Amino acid sequence: MNNTVALIAEQLDRHAIAIVDDLLPEDVLSQLLGESKQLLGEGEFHPALIGRGVTEQRISEVRGDKILWLETENLSEAQQLYFNFLEELRESLSNFFRIGLPWFECHLAAYPAGSFYTRHFDQFRETNNRIFSIILYLNENWNETDGGQLRIYENGTHRDVEPKMGRLVCFRSDLVEHEVLVTNRTRFSITGWIRRDEPTPVFL
Ligand code: OGA
Ligand code: MN
Repeated sequence: MNNTVALIAEQLDRHAIAIVDDLLPEDVLSQLLGESKQLLGEGEFHPALIGRGVTEQRISEVRGDKILWLETENLSEAQQLYFNFLEELRESLSNFFRIGLPWFECHLAAYPAGSFYTRHFDQFRETNNRIFSIILYLNENWNETDGGQLRIYENGTHRDVEPKMGRLVCFRSDLVEHEVLVTNRTRFSITGWIRRDEPTPVFL
């Protein structure tokens, strides 16, 4: 197990959440950001959906991000490097926690200025197959006034994590309640889930 992955496993075991900075080399990060910007500009992203339990609520009142699912056969060089990391993480967490985690799913995300994602868990009422949530942030020179912090609720209080370039946040999908605060500029990330069920086709 490489050091980063071992550190993540230990932090997850102790705190249900792990945060690592400078996950990938700077040139890979800026490549990932550049590609996301370009795909967003070309209209390849679409509004994200939410769990079936909340279909009666207008989606934009819950989350305002746009997403693009990534497919293993269709990755850029930089995306492939990140997938290699996720694959190693998936295998290591599966061994460390002694649970079958056969695959992960992953999408690019862009939160336009003014958007947010209200407080939620990543396991929806009907589905509990997402075991670990993993987010890589791609925002250069982010500061507090840009907003868009990931707010994590724990022990009756909360703390905010800046979505800064190269920062990886990983948490238990069933245990960690969280929220994305209103962002004041376009906020880019890659969001994924390591799952315990077998893969099914993605239609979103
Ligand atoms: C999600 C989510 C948090 C973030 O996509 O489910 O909560 O910081 N994202 O982007
Ligand atoms: Mn979430």
